[in-house]
Amino acid sequence: MTDQVSISIRNLYKIFGSNPQDALEKVYNGASKKELMDQYRHVLGLSDINVDMHAGKITVIMGLSGSGKSTLIRHVNRLIEPTAGEIWVDGENVLDFSEERLREMRRSSMSMVFQHFALLPHRTVLDNTGLAQSVRGENKQGYEKDALKWLERVGLGGQGGQYPHQLSGGMQQRVGIARALTSNAPIMLMDEAFSALDPLIRTDMQDLLLELQDELHKTIVFISHDLDEALKLADHLVILKDGRVVQQGEPQEILLHPNDPYIVDFISDINRARVLRVRSIMMALGSDLERPIVGEVDAEDTLESVIARSGGDADQNFRVMTDGVPVGFVSMRSLVRALVPSSASAGGMRSKAS
Ligand SMILES: Nc1ncnc2c1ncn2[C@@H]1O[C@H](COP(=O)(O)OP(=O)(O)OP(=O)(O)O)[C@@H](O)[C@H]1O
Ligand SMILES: [Mg+2]
Repeated sequence: MTDQVSISIRNLYKIFGSNPQDALEKVYNGASKKELMDQYRHVLGLSDINVDMHAGKITVIMGLSGSGKSTLIRHVNRLIEPTAGEIWVDGENVLDFSEERLREMRRSSMSMVFQHFALLPHRTVLDNTGLAQSVRGENKQGYEKDALKWLERVGLGGQGGQYPHQLSGGMQQRVGIARALTSNAPIMLMDEAFSALDPLIRTDMQDLLLELQDELHKTIVFISHDLDEALKLADHLVILKDGRVVQQGEPQEILLHPNDPYIVDFISDINRARVLRVRSIMMALGSDLERPIVGEVDAEDTLESVIARSGGDADQNFRVMTDGVPVGFVSMRSLVRALVPSSASAGGMRSKAS
């Protein structure tokens, strides 16, 4: 699997208002989003964003409403022009692109999946699925085979002749995904793609996305305001607040080492046993163990499943395996410690014990 950066956002700022360049000076001099609004009537959309999104991975952008998620994703295909900064896609600065090159990139390198499905009501499911190709000028014979294949793959085999209004919301979003896959673009931009769906259907769609991703390794930028969804999908998690990145990293790492009181608060309600995995808390092979090893667990197992295995015995140790090979140890004691939410390592919420 490659570990290449596909999309690189560098020192990106976006200010909405009549004179963004002047307002930018205020932001460079330390003005907050609130000050910029109260004193200068400009909206700080994004401030000094630096994010590398790796090829073949899912980067999740998470934050509350108004934190800048949509503004950020729309910079990737330059639906929004930045006030300052750079956006690199596969080694090229998108800001240097001509209109023609930009259209070409949007057509062939990126697909978008929206919250409200964005299907064309008077086109069949099949024709909606092949939309990117038909916009590129291909005729139906050109895209039909691929479109049918992906409809089948997302569980809509035999539905190609239907119209969007005949489908449920979950089915419509499956068409949205089939369309993105039929376009064959390596980058998928998904802005709250599952947020309008019922919880159970939403879970199904997350599972479907992960299953497809296992096979296809797309570069996915996924926006969510739901922490459970973000933790489930993200290889790399970026948390925004008021247009700034508060913390980014591997999701388990953020759960174990939140760096800001805001994040501590954000993750405080999460079921840590269900989300944390053995690999995140295991000790290295060769570590001294006071107690005997009673069995083996998988590095990807959740802590919850290890607790069940132990029958609640806090003195047990397990050998941690990956693909049948020992990779470390986990003790029930360290596991229990990991279940206690850590306080922020910076910013006035340190634990009293030192
Ligand atoms: N065209 C615009 N003109 C002025 N302000 C804007 C514009 N677009 C976005 N904003 C502001 O920029 C900030 C970020 O908005 P954005 O839509 O990116 O948030 P979001 O995180 O996607 O929120 P949501 O979860 O509600 O979709 C908000 O303060 C918003 O009011
Ligand atoms: Mg949004």
